[in-house]
Amino acid sequence: MESPARRILVINGKGGCGKTTIATNLAVAYACRGINVALMDNDPQASSSHWATQRDDTLPKVELIAKHERPSMYQTTSFHHRLPANTQVVVIDGHSNARGRDLESLLRQTDIILVPMLPSAIDIRAGGKFIADLLTHRIYRSAPRPVGVIANRIQPNTQTHEKLMHFLGCLDVPAVAEFRDSPVYIDAAELGQGVVDMKDCRAARKETAQWKRLLNWIDAQAPARRTTVASIRMKPRAASPKKTDTTASHPA
Ligand SMILES: Nc1ncnc2c1ncn2[C@@H]1O[C@H](COP(=O)(O)OP(=O)(O)OP(=O)(O)O)[C@@H](O)[C@H]1O
Ligand SMILES: [Mg+2]
Repeated sequence: MESPARRILVINGKGGCGKTTIATNLAVAYACRGINVALMDNDPQASSSHWATQRDDTLPKVELIAKHERPSMYQTTSFHHRLPANTQVVVIDGHSNARGRDLESLLRQTDIILVPMLPSAIDIRAGGKFIADLLTHRIYRSAPRPVGVIANRIQPNTQTHEKLMHFLGCLDVPAVAEFRDSPVYIDAAELGQGVVDMKDCRAARKETAQWKRLLNWIDAQAPARRTTVASIRMKPRAASPKKTDTTASHPA
C-alpha cells in the first residue's frame, strides 16, 4: 500500500526566525536525495511561493503548493486533493500568525514539527513561550508528535551561541540542527535554491553536515499512523450486517 507523505511543519510564533529559509532548504535537501517533495506555502506573505518562482527547472524538483491562496470555486480546500499522488514528503512553511482554527488545522495535518530559533534574548524568550504553548495545545496533547528545535543564524563560539545552546539544553524538546549566520542563505533564497544545491560553493558545503543531521533526525522519528485518502479508498467495505429478525425485538 502507498505510504502517506510525511508532513513536516516549520513554525514559530516569532517572525523572521528563519521559517521560510529552513522550509525551502529542507525541501531542497529532500529533492536532492531524489525524494518527491512538496513545499506548502501557508503564509500570506507568499515568500516560499516567490522562492519557487525563482527556481530553475534544471534543479531537483520541488513541487509548490500555495496553500495561502484561496482555491477557485472548482478547487477543493483540502490539500489531500492538491498534492501530487506520488508525494513522499511535504514541508510546510507555517506563518507566525497562525492562531485558532488555522493553527489547529496545521497541527492536525502534521507528523513532525520544527521550530527555528534565533540566538537573541528576545527570540529565545518568544520561542520558549511558543514551545510551551505548543506542548500544552489541546490538539498536540491529543496526539503528541516529535518536535525539534533548530538553532538558526548562529555564530559559533560566541556568547550568544552559548546562551542559546544552554537554553535549548533546558527545554523538553531536542535541538536537532544548527545553521550558521551566513550570506549563503540569502544568496540561495534569491536564486530559488537551497544550500544543498550549491555544491560548488564552499560556504554552502560547510552547512551540509547540519542538513544531513536534520534529515537523519527526521528519518529516525517513527512515522505517525495516519489514515490517508488512498487507504480510505482501498479499505474493503465492511460486510453488511446480516438481516436479523427484527420482529423478535419488536413484537407486534
Ligand atoms: N542562517 C541564516 N543566515 C543568514 N541569513 C538568514 C539565515 N536564516 C534566515 N536568514 C535571513 O533572515 C531573514 C528572515 O528569514 P526568513 O524569511 O526565513 O524568516 P521567517 O521566519 O520565514 O520570516 P516571516 O516570519 O516573515 O515569515 C531573511 O532575510 C533570510 O534570508
Ligand atoms: Mg516566512
